Amino acid sequence: VLDLRDAFALPPERVWLNCAHQGPLPRVGKKALDEAAVLKLEPHRISDASFTEIPLTLKAVLGTLVGVPREEIVLGNSTSYGLHLLANGIRWRSGDEVLVPQDEFPASVLPWESLRDQGVSVRVAGATTATIDPDTLDREIGSRTRLFCASWVSSFTGRTLDIGALGAVCRQRKVLFVLNASQAIGHRSLNAAAEPVDAISCCGFKWLCGPYATGFCWIRPELRDQLTSGNRYWLAMRSPMAFEFAPERGPAVHAIEESSRFDVFCPASFFTVLPWRDTIQWLLEIGIGNIAAHDDALVSRFIAGLDRSRFRLISPANPGERSPIVVLSHRDASRNAAIHADLAKRGFDCALRAGNLRFSPHLYNSLADIDGALEAIVMSHAAPSTSRSDRAGP
Ligand SMILES: Cc1ncc(COP(=O)(O)O)c(C=O)c1O
Repeated sequence: VLDLRDAFALPPERVWLNCAHQGPLPRVGKKALDEAAVLKLEPHRISDASFTEIPLTLKAVLGTLVGVPREEIVLGNSTSYGLHLLANGIRWRSGDEVLVPQDEFPASVLPWESLRDQGVSVRVAGATTATIDPDTLDREIGSRTRLFCASWVSSFTGRTLDIGALGAVCRQRKVLFVLNASQAIGHRSLNAAAEPVDAISCCGFKWLCGPYATGFCWIRPELRDQLTSGNRYWLAMRSPMAFEFAPERGPAVHAIEESSRFDVFCPASFFTVLPWRDTIQWLLEIGIGNIAAHDDALVSRFIAGLDRSRFRLISPANPGERSPIVVLSHRDASRNAAIHADLAKRGFDCALRAGNLRFSPHLYNSLADIDGALEAIVMSHAAPSTSRSDRAGP
């Protein structure tokens, strides 16, 4: 296991077990944030070139992170950004259908729902993120299915999908496979170009420990080149600050740098990009494989120590499917909310999602944090749910 607590500024009296919601910024990110503040306090320090160079340096670390050339990285501000690019840019045919698992996170469903006017429908599969497998997917895909969108790791069940096997089915059935990787990248290694996926969208503020409003996507070039959308942003033009372009000489769009065509506006957003970039660089130095092994050791300890007579493990226990998202429920599920509140009072922050308790440790947590959480769960369970501070006040 890693020993990285001191690399973060987490308060000593609390144990943050909710990375699936927000990953804390490490100290290296805080240092870059301070540098970004200086740029704004003393604007003479902001060079013209930085508006194009800073996004490129972020793309470079993201490209290394997911195994693609930096020119193929699209900068966004969320998971939704990349998914909307696809929804808005694919040339849909009336009657096309998008398939999603039953309990898919809303961010992977909403972009396709807005295509109703174009005759595109969303079909919810019979299977959930916990049960979908290649055979089920093969049965679910119909003659109208154009695209399958799912989370690599589910926010609700913590299950990791076998993207190789599901993607192979999609390839065989000529269905586009779009992956929401927000709950996976940062604790799972990825070589995107080698996987049978057509696009990946991911936020930066969970397992990548970046500021809120960060994200990126990768779209396989064959698909990207067919997209009709694009942002036509002036800072995405070649030499934007030279203002060489003159409207009377032809459409400005010809001066757009192709690899920046899909980026979010203000891609040099100093306050978010600098801390995120340096954080990812630091994570790469630690090694995503080492982080994955650390997180899995924590999960292994958690699952082994859980009192299964009182708690039901909802997330998978087997190493092939589990993730650092451990979801459980008291056998009397109506007690989960009170247990969640009681754990927070004891200094253990987890999430209450879809009525279940969700624990998501990451690289800053230790085995002692897990042991402490297990002990607190036992105490919270034993504590009467109507303890003084649980009662609604006037
Ligand atoms: C699977 C999944 N996708 C997306 C998000 C967030 O979406 P966005 O980055 O668009 O805000 C979350 C969590 O908030 C999530 O768990």
